[in-house]
Amino acid sequence: MYKILFTLLFRRMDPEQAHHLAFGWIRRVARVPVLRTFVAAVLAPRHGELRTEALGLRLHSPFGLAAGFDKNAVGIDGMAMLGFDHVEIGTVTGEPQPGNPRKRLFRLVADRALINRMGFNNEGSLAVAARLASRTPVFRTVVGVNIGKTKVVPEDEAVADYVKSAERLAPYADYLVVNVSSPNTPGLRDLQAVDHLRPLLAAVREAADRTVPARRVPLLVKIAPDLADEDVDAVADLAVELGLDGIIATNTTIAREGLGLTSDPAVVKETGGLSGAPLKARSLEVLRRLYARVGDRITLVGVGGIENAEDAWQRILAGATLVQGYSAFIYEGPFWGRAMHKGLAARLRTSPYATLADAVGADVRKTV
Ligand SMILES: Cc1cc2nc3c(=O)[nH]c(=O)nc-3n(C[C@H](O)[C@H](O)[C@H](O)COP(=O)(O)O)c2cc1C
Repeated sequence: MYKILFTLLFRRMDPEQAHHLAFGWIRRVARVPVLRTFVAAVLAPRHGELRTEALGLRLHSPFGLAAGFDKNAVGIDGMAMLGFDHVEIGTVTGEPQPGNPRKRLFRLVADRALINRMGFNNEGSLAVAARLASRTPVFRTVVGVNIGKTKVVPEDEAVADYVKSAERLAPYADYLVVNVSSPNTPGLRDLQAVDHLRPLLAAVREAADRTVPARRVPLLVKIAPDLADEDVDAVADLAVELGLDGIIATNTTIAREGLGLTSDPAVVKETGGLSGAPLKARSLEVLRRLYARVGDRITLVGVGGIENAEDAWQRILAGATLVQGYSAFIYEGPFWGRAMHKGLAARLRTSPYATLADAVGADVRKTV
């Protein structure tokens, strides 16, 4: 049914408008108590064997929503209702900003991919913190808060901008993510170099501890698939050195070559980050590399081109404790979460592993 809706309605609309329309529907449904209970029962039935512990948190499953879909934390319960057992809001920047001029989101339907150059359009850390503070959760879901740099803030003041967001948002975050990997903020990805990353992560850690003394807010960093392998290793080593809680691999790619893209070349050459199926191989490779380096010392989150339960299962075997998706939700629709849960539970049942935790990294451990 969603395929028909997608073809007849969403595909004919501007992708960003389609996003707002669909997200509006989801949020409206989630506001009606009987309706949301019914929808959650149909679309997100629980599978006990998928229960996961990660980052000191308990989750219904390892499956969650990647950052960028709910930038302003307006629809957390709506997404939980659809089976996303963690919802990463943001990227939120220190100050509010409009993002890049439209049109800035493109569908590559033939490639099951998207290109975006949104540029961190968001209401800013103050407004998002106020929204999170006043939220009464309906569904139990883990809320991650992803923070990034305000565009107009010069690079030498980046740390202060991240710290501002961390101070405001850490109290409401089940976990906090330092995003240094979006391709749409000039200079942002340079912060992945360990010389820049070390003081940034240390300052955000300190800000979170200072503003939330009662609990240790887990801190993660999200990296790009375009890093050279040595740089992936360097980030992994830094994460261990700093006692970071996790690494999210990966963000979108600026690459276009060698991905077998078959969509209209005019769309393929749009500037921005490419997500979805063509990202799958590199995201998996980065994840494997990270796991081989850090093992169980750091929680790894696999994201990038996950389209089905088999993809998610491969990420778990490659070292991911949690998995996330965004682009496939656009193509698969509201039944996606249900299929992911069901498929993951089936894979675990027929695998040699008693629990999901046993499966994490099993493929990589075999080869090292
Ligand atoms: C339209 C769009 C906006 C995004 N915005 C953000 C963002 O604000 N912050 C972030 O860390 N990642 C953002 N991402 C990247 C996703 O979180 C994810 O890392 C990437 O899309 C790969 O996953 P996927 O192939 O399942 O989409 C965005 C992705 C898309 C498609």
